[in-house]
Amino acid sequence: MAKEIKTIGVLTSGGDAPGMNAAVRAVVRTAISKGFKVMGIQRGFSGLLNGEIMEMNLRSVSEIIHRGGTCLYTARCLEFKTLEGQKKGAERCREFGIDALVVIGGDGSFRGAKALAALGIPCIGIPGTIDNDIACSDYTIGYDTAMNTAVEMIDKLRDTTQSHDRCSVVEVMGRSAGYIALNVGIATGAIATLIPERPYDLERDILDRMNFTQKTGKKHFIVIVAEGVGKAQELAHEIQAASGIDSRATVLGHVQRGGAPSLRDRVTASQMGFHAVYLLEKGIYNRIVAESAGHVVDYDISTALAMHKTIDTTLLDIANTISI
Ligand code: ADP
Ligand code: F6P
Repeated sequence: MAKEIKTIGVLTSGGDAPGMNAAVRAVVRTAISKGFKVMGIQRGFSGLLNGEIMEMNLRSVSEIIHRGGTCLYTARCLEFKTLEGQKKGAERCREFGIDALVVIGGDGSFRGAKALAALGIPCIGIPGTIDNDIACSDYTIGYDTAMNTAVEMIDKLRDTTQSHDRCSVVEVMGRSAGYIALNVGIATGAIATLIPERPYDLERDILDRMNFTQKTGKKHFIVIVAEGVGKAQELAHEIQAASGIDSRATVLGHVQRGGAPSLRDRVTASQMGFHAVYLLEKGIYNRIVAESAGHVVDYDISTALAMHKTIDTTLLDIANTISI
């Protein structure tokens, strides 16, 4: 028989993402509306081990829906990767009367949730990362806002790139996934977009394309590089040396992780937070909330962690056809 849940804990873990606040708000308010007590855990698994835990009420999550970052703070916690750390985490849950935990974060955080679940603490995961690299979900909270931030920044870069007839090589986030790069590349009219999932050839994918468009009168260029490909500065030097076009590198970095969440991120976060509590209310445990074909669904944690997601490179083909 399913364990009776009276108190739900909630934490954010790993890299922050715009919309995490909206997810926390949805979890807290849905849980309280359904008669649960809610405990907020600060700084992810690190705060769980340190007992940075306090009761939340309806007003604890006021004035956060429009804010980036996470009101619960976030952290990475090496100790929690050990069985000892995980046992301590489960003990802390019991000590603070936390019967089930909602973990908002990425793959790593879900591995932590899986470990806690194995130690008898029911867990629900909500995908929060700007990288959109969670296999079981079409969409992760923060992705839309991060891409819009990148586009806004690159539009500014375009002005100066164009004035100087230059080439701007822009690195966007995405440690091991090219989702941000692919979309940003098409939205900013980049002459080339490099993603970790597809090896590139400098001559074929960048220089030849620049050369071809130069002959049609194009004088300035934007090249998007995913973080997982990296070496933006090196690439800018290579392009300048080979083409003679003055080139500059810009690494957008953590600016992409901040800022007010977009409508998409606020709505998805609210739906997912609501769904997480709905699952716990129904006695359905150890699941990852996800988006599939526009619907909010959920998968068993182990199944979700074993899934693979392939990138749809159609956008790359479209960009290569029209960004000329
Ligand atoms: P994300 O959740 O964004 O993928 P990380 O990979 O940094 O971010 O993971 C966040 C935290 O989750 C880690 O600092 C650690 O506390 C916990 N974690 C990561 N991997 C594991 C694991 N294999 N087992 C237990 N906990 C883990
Ligand atoms: O996972 C999101 C992400 O922004 C990655 O794209 C990036 O590689 C990483 O987090 C950076 O994390 P941090 O600088 O916080 O360690």
